[in-house]
Amino acid sequence: TRDKMPPVEGDILVHASASKEGEIIKVSELSEQLIRAWPMGKDKEGNNLIRKGDPNNVLALYRFPKGQIIAPTNLEATIDGEIVAYSDICTHAGCSVSDDDQTEGQMKCPCHSGQYDPKRGCKVVGGPPPRPLAQLPIKQDGDKLVVAGFFLENPYPFTESEWEARKE
Ligand code: FES
Repeated sequence: TRDKMPPVEGDILVHASASKEGEIIKVSELSEQLIRAWPMGKDKEGNNLIRKGDPNNVLALYRFPKGQIIAPTNLEATIDGEIVAYSDICTHAGCSVSDDDQTEGQMKCPCHSGQYDPKRGCKVVGGPPPRPLAQLPIKQDGDKLVVAGFFLENPYPFTESEWEARKE
């Protein structure tokens, strides 16, 4: 069903945190602190539909000062090299990843201390995750964030065959 579909091009990003869930995220709200987001598309009748039927759809958004986001981040999939979106689901065993309280600008998984660097394509910089968090291409529409394409890599702790099936 559509609420379980992974982010689709054209989806608008809305807050996933309990206090603001469903509110459209504004570009002006973003900072170096992780903001969790859901993709919001449309149902068959054309009404807004938040794709939270699959908890694996939760995303992580950051805005860093220009020049700080570097390879292997795909800069063309960011907004102006400043705003970047990733899957927030740890590639180790599927927990939701948080900001690292100890190391600014990094992410730490609460389950087994996997660490990722969101300025460098969310590459793994510590712990057991087998691969980076997948980057999601985004673009700007006014003050809104819009999904610009499919995840650049397998975003979930899925096997390759599960991932291939999901892409179809
Ligand atoms: Fe994230 Fe294990 S689930 S480190």
